[in-house]
Amino acid sequence: MEGKAVSGTLYVIGTGPGNPDQMTPEAQRAVERAEEFFGYFPYLDRLSLRSDQRKIASDNREELDRASAALGRAAAGMNVAVVSGGDPGVFAMAAAVCEAIDAGPAEWRDVELVVTPGVTAMLAVAARAGAPLGHDFCAMSLSDNLKPWEVITRRLRLVAEAGLVIALYNPISKARPWQLGKAFDILKDVLPGTVPVIFGRAAGRPDERIVVVPLSQADPAMADMATCVMIGSPETRVIARPNLPDLVYSPRSHAGDRR
Ligand SMILES: C[S@@+](CC[C@H](N)C(=O)[O-])C[C@H]1O[C@@H](n2cnc3c(N)ncnc32)[C@H](O)[C@@H]1O
Repeated sequence: MEGKAVSGTLYVIGTGPGNPDQMTPEAQRAVERAEEFFGYFPYLDRLSLRSDQRKIASDNREELDRASAALGRAAAGMNVAVVSGGDPGVFAMAAAVCEAIDAGPAEWRDVELVVTPGVTAMLAVAARAGAPLGHDFCAMSLSDNLKPWEVITRRLRLVAEAGLVIALYNPISKARPWQLGKAFDILKDVLPGTVPVIFGRAAGRPDERIVVVPLSQADPAMADMATCVMIGSPETRVIARPNLPDLVYSPRSHAGDRR
């Protein structure tokens, strides 16, 4: 009689923002345990693998197919990894894996799933700028690939009105060239022009660039797809330091509603 296949483990790994020092020891250990690695090729390229470990690279838009392929291999008994940049649960593969399990065959529910957290982009950018996330904040993806643009604009307006600092992921790309400009128009409507905006590009990598401007001067050309754009709240402050980069921080206390 044939026995039921023993499932392997599916690791969902976050590599951090790109600096190897910002990848957690837990994620490093998961890399040692996996035999096959599924991911978008720039993220797979961040890993130094042994000769017995295999990379299966795919395009960034094929997340559900990639998750399903990895689940199929794990259900067949392999230890496999799905690799994301930053944290795998923030606009990344952990949700795609859960969606695939939700819709997939019953045996995928027997696959042991280990999600290793990572340093997400907004934390890496915030750490370089000071402490812009020191008070309440939210994270939003500006991509309208997976949600309607009307949902994005409504949320942007509401969170700005609520006084949250906003970390914008996926701010701009060749296929989405105008959305960031529209987002700034909405935010300029709600927030004072003096609110600091941080363009944090490639935080933690050799080509890192952190630029801070007031909202009134925020220009979509300052961002690319490697940028996390952080819009301060009316409480967020900039400390000018003549010989060092400005510090941006959101004080931990809030004086109450002054409107
Ligand atoms: C698909 S999302 C993935 C986010 C990732 N899971 C994370 O936790 O950082 C990709 C977006 O993350 C942001 N991003 C990723 N790495 C970054 C870095 N090192 N510096 C600044 N922003 C980054 C950019 O906004 C980029 O468009």
